[in-house]
Amino acid sequence: MSLDLLFDAARAAQAQAYAPYSRFTVGAAILTPTGRIHAGCNVENAAYPVGTCAEAGAIAAMILGGEREIVAIAIVGDGDELVTPCGGCRQRIREFARPDTAIQIGGPEGIRRTFTLDELLPFSFGPDNLPRP
Ligand code: THU
Repeated sequence: MSLDLLFDAARAAQAQAYAPYSRFTVGAAILTPTGRIHAGCNVENAAYPVGTCAEAGAIAAMILGGEREIVAIAIVGDGDELVTPCGGCRQRIREFARPDTAIQIGGPEGIRRTFTLDELLPFSFGPDNLPRP
C-alpha cells in the first residue's frame, strides 16, 4: 500500500465534504492492517456544534467495515497552516492507534508533515486505563 494512495483517498474525501458554514473542507483516510482504506469528510450542521470532523467520519467507516486498527491516517485541508486533528479527534484516533501510528498532514500540493500519535497526544488516556470488564 502506497502512502500516496492514502493521501489521494483523503483528497477525494475532502472533495465530498459538506462545509457550507466554515467553507473549510477536510478529508481523512485511514489505512488498516489489511491494506484497506476507510475515508471520511467533515459534515457541518446548521446547529453548529453538531457538525462532525473528517476523522470521525473515517473512523466510523472503518468500524462499519469491521476493522479496528489504524496503521496510518492522512488528513487533508486547505490553507497555509497544518491541518492537524482537533483535540477531540486526537482522542478518537488514539482509541484505535498506537503511540507510533503515523498521522500525515497534507495540503492541496501533497503531504506536508508526518507526526506520530504520541507527538500529538502525549501521556494519553486510553482503553488500558480502564479496568477490563
Ligand atoms: N475539521 C475537521 O474535519 N478536521 C480537523 O482536523 C479540523 C477541523 C473541520 C470541522 C469543521 O467542519 C471545519 O473543519 C472548520 O473547523
